[in-house]
Amino acid sequence: MLLVTGQDDEEINKHWMSCVVPRPIGWISTLGKDGVPNLAPYSFFNALSEKPPIVMFGSNGRHAHGAKDTARNILETGEFVVNMATYDLRVEVKASSEPARPEVNEFDRVGLESEASSLVLPPRVKAAPIHIECVLLKAVELPSEIEENLLIIGRVIGLHINDNCFTEGRIDLSKVRPLARHGYGQFAMFGETVKGVA
Ligand SMILES: Cc1cc2nc3c(=O)[nH]c(=O)nc-3n(C[C@H](O)[C@H](O)[C@H](O)COP(=O)(O)O)c2cc1C
Repeated sequence: MLLVTGQDDEEINKHWMSCVVPRPIGWISTLGKDGVPNLAPYSFFNALSEKPPIVMFGSNGRHAHGAKDTARNILETGEFVVNMATYDLRVEVKASSEPARPEVNEFDRVGLESEASSLVLPPRVKAAPIHIECVLLKAVELPSEIEENLLIIGRVIGLHINDNCFTEGRIDLSKVRPLARHGYGQFAMFGETVKGVA
């Protein structure tokens, strides 16, 4: 069995991202304080609690041109939307991860239509089947070997779920087909829903 130790060991970095999987992808839209919409995928993302509904994501590192827009916009405006990243939108999800300067509207850049949110100012990805409107609860600075490592925690204040996601009143994930993230740059598609574990 392979044992890898040491915090910054290259071997840990190589395999680590496939040791906590599959990671859901929060496809996060924000608005700059100058009004420029921004969109990027974050897979250090998850739900943190049920009552109240809380989400979190990790913004690691910086661009060559400066801080990541998503975290900066949230710290400045206090609002964001998590759009459901789906298999059908995989090309746009990946394209929206390419570094872009803050003045670039990333909806336009990747060719996605936006639509106004109901409770927060950042727009939503119209083609995404589920949108989670959030307000910033807390930002926590984490240790960093790459200049910046921020944990952003948000309170969910609204959910939009397309009618075509449902089967008999429940969200049917075989219709939504969420996209998830593994290590080595790999992605995962939605698998199977099982009734119980026995
Ligand atoms: C599927 C996927 C997941 C990603 N997850 C993260 C993440 O959890 N944290 C992070 O800092 N960057 C992550 N990235 C990289 C960011 O999306 C990328 O740095 C992006 O340019 C940030 O954009 P922004 O400056 O508009 O926020 C991910 C990229 C992909 C393709």
